[in-house]
Parts: sequence; C-alpha cells; structure tokens
Amino acid sequence: MNRPVMEGLRLNVPAYVKHQRLVAWVAEIAALTEAKDVYWCDGSQEEYDRLCQQLVDAGTFKKLNPVKRPNSYLACSDPSDVARVEDRTFICSQKKEDAGPTNNWMDPAQMRKLLQTGQDDGTPALFKGAMKGRTLYVVPFSMGPIGSPIAHIGVELSDSPYVAVNMRIMTRMGRAVLDVLGDDGAFVPCVHTVGAPLQPGQADVKWPCNATKYIVHYPETREIWSYGSGYGGNALLGKKCFALRIASTMGRDQGWLAEHMLVLGVTSPEGKKYHVAAAFPSACGKTNFAMLIPPKSLSGWKVTTIGDDIAWIKPHADGRLYAINPEAGYFGVAPGTNTLTNPNCMASLDKDVIFTNVALTDDGDVWWEGMSDTAPAHAIDWQGKDWTPEIAKATGAKAAHPNARFTVSATNNPALDAEWDNPAGVPIDAFIFGGRRSTTVPLVTEARDWVEGVYMAATMGSETTAAAAGQQGVVRRDPFAMLPFMGYNMADYFQHWLDLGKKLQASGAKLPKIFCVNWFRKGADGKFVWPGYGDNMRVLKWMLERVEGQDSGEMHAFGVTPRYEDLSWEGLAFTREQFLAATHIDKADWAAELKLHDALFEQLAYHLPAELPATKAKIAERLAQE
Ligand code: GTP
Ligand code: SPV
Ligand code: MN
Repeated sequence: MNRPVMEGLRLNVPAYVKHQRLVAWVAEIAALTEAKDVYWCDGSQEEYDRLCQQLVDAGTFKKLNPVKRPNSYLACSDPSDVARVEDRTFICSQKKEDAGPTNNWMDPAQMRKLLQTGQDDGTPALFKGAMKGRTLYVVPFSMGPIGSPIAHIGVELSDSPYVAVNMRIMTRMGRAVLDVLGDDGAFVPCVHTVGAPLQPGQADVKWPCNATKYIVHYPETREIWSYGSGYGGNALLGKKCFALRIASTMGRDQGWLAEHMLVLGVTSPEGKKYHVAAAFPSACGKTNFAMLIPPKSLSGWKVTTIGDDIAWIKPHADGRLYAINPEAGYFGVAPGTNTLTNPNCMASLDKDVIFTNVALTDDGDVWWEGMSDTAPAHAIDWQGKDWTPEIAKATGAKAAHPNARFTVSATNNPALDAEWDNPAGVPIDAFIFGGRRSTTVPLVTEARDWVEGVYMAATMGSETTAAAAGQQGVVRRDPFAMLPFMGYNMADYFQHWLDLGKKLQASGAKLPKIFCVNWFRKGADGKFVWPGYGDNMRVLKWMLERVEGQDSGEMHAFGVTPRYEDLSWEGLAFTREQFLAATHIDKADWAAELKLHDALFEQLAYHLPAELPATKAKIAERLAQE
C-alpha cells in the first residue's frame, strides 16, 4: 500500500530523533496525505528566520519596516478564514452523552472514515492526498516548561509553514522537546492540513485553505485532526484543541482543571502577593486584564502576567490550587489595543511579532481600529485594498479585521511575572468569571460560597464576538467561558468543579473566593458605563480586601457587591449615579435572565448536579423577597 508515494517521499528524519513510533506515525501521515517532503522543525532562531523568509518569498508574509517594527511580519488570511469555526468543531467520543449537548458529535468510526480511511460509498478520505505538492512540517511542542512534571507534549504535523512559525512563539517548540520524549515518551498526535493540495505546476495562493473545515478531537485516544483552516485556534493545535479540549478530559480523569483563564500576580503596596485566575469568553478582556497597569492613585499596586488565555490548575498537597500557563506566547486581539488602555501590550509588540489581518501603513508599519485617535491618511487594509478614513466613513470598511491578532513571545511582555514559567505554578487566591453584557449583569458580585460560585460561572452569559465565525453581539450562555472549548459533557464538568471544591474543603484549606464581573455594561447613550482597563484595578483591590476578610459590601439576592464607598475613587471622576448605572440590579431583567438559566439546565439535564437547580431556587426565592 502507498508504495509509490513512500518511495518518492523522503522522511528526512534527523539523527537526533530516537522515537520509532513517532517516525512510523510521520511516515503513515506523509503517505496518507501524499506530502511532497517532510521537514522536522528544530525550533532554532535560524530556522524561524528561514521559514519567515520563505513565507515572504511566497507572498504570505510581508516584512514590516525594520526600523519601526524590527523582525516583524504581517500575514493577511483568505477572507473566508478569519476565526475559529465552532460549528465545524467536533468531539468524537465513543458515546454521544460524553460529548454532551453543547458539543458537535460524530461517531469516531464514522469520522475516521470521513477523514482518514474513506467512506463506504467510495468517497475518498479528506486527508487522502491533502498535502500534495506541500511540505509536511513536523512540529514537536511542549505545553508547559520542557521536561517539567506538569508539562504535556504534542507533535503537530502540518502543511502550513505559517503554523510552524506561530507554534515556535506560542509553545516551547523543537528539538529539545524530542530530547525529552526520548525513544518512547507519550505525545498527543495532532494532524493539520490547510486542505489545498497542489497539482504539478499549479501555483500556490498566499493563504491556502478549504471551504470545508473539520476541527476534530478524539478524547479517548487523545488525538486531534484539523482540516481546511490555517487560522488561530483552528490550526495552532496546542492551544484550544490540546490545552483546553483534550486537556480538560485529562483533567477530569486525573483530578485537575484546564481552563480558559488568564493568570495574574498582584502585589499590594504592603508587598503582599496574590494570584488571581480569571475566565472571560473570547475577545472579552483576558489579555488586557492580565497586563493591567493600575491608575496613578493606586500605583502602589502592581500587576504581573503569568498567562493571558489558558490555565492548568492542580490541587497541591497543601490543599491549595496551583496554576500554570501552558503556553509560551500570546495570540492576542489587536483591534482596541493602544498605549492608553494597554501600554504593556503595546510595548510587547515593539519587535519580533507576527501580525495577522491588521492593516499595512504606507511606511511599512501596522495599524488597526482603536490603535490611535487619528487613523493614517492611507493604508492597505487586511484584504489588500486601499483604505482611507474617508472610504471607511462611506463604506464602513475596516482597516483591520475585528479578529485581527498578534503572535508574540511572553518574554516580550514588560510585565511578565518572575514565576511565569515556574513548573510548580502559583497558588490561586481568587477566581473571576466575566462576560460581555451590555445590560443586566452588575460590575462585580462575590459568591457566598464555592457552590454559588460554580452556579454563577455555569450560568454566565456573554455576547458573541468576532473570535468565532458567526453572528456577533448575541447573548448566549457560555459556562465558565468554556462553551467552545469543553472536551466532554458540560454537566459532568460542573460536577468536576463541585467535587474539587468538596475535596479541597475536606482537606481544611481555604478555598479561593469566586467573583463574577462585567466590564461591558452600556448606558442609554450606547457607551460603556465603566471605564474598564486600568480602572479594573479598583474592583480587583476590593476583591483582594474581601479575600483578606474585610467586611465591605452588601449582601443581596445574588451574593455580595461593594457599595459606592467600598471602592477607591481617587483620581477618577465617577459619581454615585454612574456607579448605580454600572451596578444596579433590575428585577425584571433578572427574572428574564433566570429563565435563561432554566433553559441551560434543561439542555444539560443529563448528569446536571442537583446543587445547581437548588442554588437557583434559593436565588429566585431571595429575589422575590427583595
Ligand atoms: P481571546 O484572545 O479571544 O481569548 O480574548 P481576550 O479575552 O484575551 O480579550 P482581550 O483582552 O484581547 O480583549 C478583547 C477586546 O475587548 C479588545 O478590543 C479590548 O480592547 C476590549 N477590552 C478589554 N478589556 C476591556 C475593558 O475593561 N473594558 C472595555 N470596554 N473593553 C475592554
Ligand atoms: C479565542 O478565540 O479564545 C482565542 C483565539 O484565544 S484562538 O486561538 O483563535 O482560539
Ligand atoms: Mn482565548
């Protein structure tokens, strides 16, 4: 089988590769996909520079002005391939109930026919010949510090050099990973193709991809297969596919958590250090919160970044939860980022960046909506068209795609926490859950206990954003900000959180407090009522005072919220009326909101922990009494 292909194909296995199972698997995938040749990534700077130059030569990358933006590139994708595709994402567990009602499911045997072996009616498998005319890149990567006991290794086989260079920034990638893997180490196999084979003599396009897309996970065998997209979470398989969907099932089996959370360190003026993990849905403020610079009046406080998107959280022998960031870089939202709202982020982007889908200025630099008050007089937009403020006004054309991103190493971040890659992780003092809600949800609420916190997180709603293909600005339930990233049944995941809380409590340890926030409430004028960004420090400070046991705030139907006088207002003109606009609880709005909680619980009825409807009943009762 496949003899002619195998004979023509050079596997190019470097002498340092000792893992026969890995080599055999690479040979098998190369034969299936009929890749032109195979290249093993070593992760070196020389290799990165060479692949970037190759991308420049191919027209995928544009090298930016080296004076303004040293060692940086711009890639513009196909207009059809700009975000995660949730409706094309599948959890293929043996049983449908194990994927649960919030995931797309297909029988794994059927999916394997579709992707790998061919269908009963003779339709060839999608991966069959999918890499024709392309190089297969072998990308070994470690999620977590290389060689540390908490890290897990994956190997992505991809026909996209764009993926290879992005993976070098986003993960610990290359030869050092194979050294740790030795001759028999375990790894998660990740197969990725853009699904655009080249016939002999056929010219390539700048951003190959396919209208058909499949982002597939086999949780039981811990495998990932991705077809048809070259963008972000669809293609950089260490991130959402591995570190969230596959890792969440590992965490369920092994007693830990894989979460869509930033992790930050915060040091008080007295020098006490806290660690906070916060879950917000995609494009709802994690990167910004993780890099927060406190306002002048609170300049005694200091925030440092451990991670900006994903946390792996494990119970420690001391009864506390410790979090690590499994990633090594940031794949962050560009639009809206500027030197006023996020100076740390802007400083991170000074050099060594891959930008995707932002605009190119006439002096060879980048620009995006919200980067500066004054737009450039002329730019080339992310689709390669002329862009001017006048054109934008007349047609609504965006210079940058709303889900335009930067890829940058964590070590570029001036606020990087000294412990960011400590394999032991950092102890978590508080969890925050936040959605993007223009109405209903108040600025901040503290759960009275762990179960109430799990309830808040489980029932959280958020308006959809450009991070996923589909309609934007629609409120949907996004439990724990994990809706698109759960590798198993959502109701079982709620149970997992409740069980973990019980286990920690039994050990006598102080549980992290749980808070719910909303930075995104809007007034009648359509503007955000809360200043957000650095001023979120005012809310964070109150939370940490609560962690310290300070009796500030008032109890209401949903939990505890600060009164106006409980927050520090120095340096910010924010009146009691404005505070009320950001925090008030409207009974009618909440009656409607609780109906949506009911609908979620109905959807998740199979295995839904009884504590959750019981908590809802208590909240509804208190709301009726108020
Ligand atoms: P993913 O990378 O998709 O997971 O997103 P994220 O959660 O890291 O979101 P990010 O911090 O990149 O923010 C997304 C958008 O929300 C950006 O345009 C920000 O400018 C905006 N944003 C972030 N924080 C705030 C805030 O406190 N207030 C307001 N109004 N906007 C914010
Ligand atoms: C998200 O959508 O939450 C992201 C970007 O962090 S992506 O890697 O594309 O999933
Ligand atoms: Mn994310």
